[in-house]
Amino acid sequence: MLGLSGGIACYKAAELVRELIKAGATVQVAMTEAAEHFITAVTLQALSNRPVFTSQWDARDHNNMAHINLTREADAILIAPASADFIAKLLHGRADELLSLACLARPIDRCALLVAPAMNREMWAHPATQRNFAQLVADGATVLGPGNGDQACGEIGDGRMLEPHELRDELIAFFQPKLLAGKRVLVTAGPTFEPIDPVRGLTNRSSGKMGFAIARAAAEAGADVTLLAGPVALATPRHVRRVDVTTAVEMHDAALAAAPSSDVFVATAAVADWRVASVAGSKIKKAEGRVVPAFELVENPDILAAVARLPKPPFCVGFAAESENLVAHAREKLQRKQVPLIVANLGPATFGRDDNALTLVDADGERELPRAEKIVLARQLVAEIAARLSRRT
Ligand code: C5P
Repeated sequence: MLGLSGGIACYKAAELVRELIKAGATVQVAMTEAAEHFITAVTLQALSNRPVFTSQWDARDHNNMAHINLTREADAILIAPASADFIAKLLHGRADELLSLACLARPIDRCALLVAPAMNREMWAHPATQRNFAQLVADGATVLGPGNGDQACGEIGDGRMLEPHELRDELIAFFQPKLLAGKRVLVTAGPTFEPIDPVRGLTNRSSGKMGFAIARAAAEAGADVTLLAGPVALATPRHVRRVDVTTAVEMHDAALAAAPSSDVFVATAAVADWRVASVAGSKIKKAEGRVVPAFELVENPDILAAVARLPKPPFCVGFAAESENLVAHAREKLQRKQVPLIVANLGPATFGRDDNALTLVDADGERELPRAEKIVLARQLVAEIAARLSRRT
């Protein structure tokens, strides 16, 4: 159930309905009279493909109890935008119009209340608002945001409603089991780039999508996540600490600094095996008659093996991107790198794609995770890691 209270961020609710529906949700909209000043019920009905409820006196339901019927069908109520006034009302348990009535009437154990504040920064910072939100959280609600930045009033600060795609991701994350709560997870992702001169370098075609999906899934599962990202142009998953690196040596140094305080290390990155021994200080020029340059390569450090060799290593998971003999290669890596779990996938069938198929290989055997979206596989992998962690302790 998506509830709109009055605020200019109502214009974003239309996009939010679209995002939620695209993500597979059924969206039932209810809105306050104040919200109707900002966006029409017609727009939201058209986008949600369901009649919108605006009044507690709506006679369309046979029993005339929209506040009961709507909340018995809902898995969650998301109030977006949540105005300062509406929140003030909720925490007092007031119920003088449909939306606040529905919030009060919801089955508190199986219909979560999430609120996305949207207001001017002074209104957000006011002690009354802060007190009200703190009380709402104490009463069991989840507050999403607010964001920070330009406000419709022209001021800049805290109080912006999160963007529709951010609210969608927050809501999806809310429903994931918190299998890694309290755990620290370190993930490497993407390619590395090994410079030849100031404008050229050696790299590979890893997109970083699998590693970013794993970082997102771990964060959804309640972990504190650090993502060491090679040069990729992907958006950082919410609540993930991202550290951008370029070369294998930089990734190695960042990983070894973070690994001792991590519970889990997932090495998804396609680290370049070699780097150029001496990087030219200026662009190597091509000229008539000049000999074609030859590069001496040196081997890069093996980040995963180095982390696994630490005196108290985190639970280490490696990846194997192969073109054939998946399981045999994965077994060889399991031995060589001395890690408890290797995830094998076919390189050409994963690089750059949004889906993948994985084979988990450990000392006990193999398990296939059939082709699915990378985020779906990442959640399955997180569940596998969580199960192994709990067996270890
Ligand atoms: O066979 P390879 O050494 O490429 O093994 C791949 C696995 O090892 C991946 O998990 C990859 O992230 C990790 N790796 C690493 N550092 C390297 C090479 C590979 O962490 N220099």
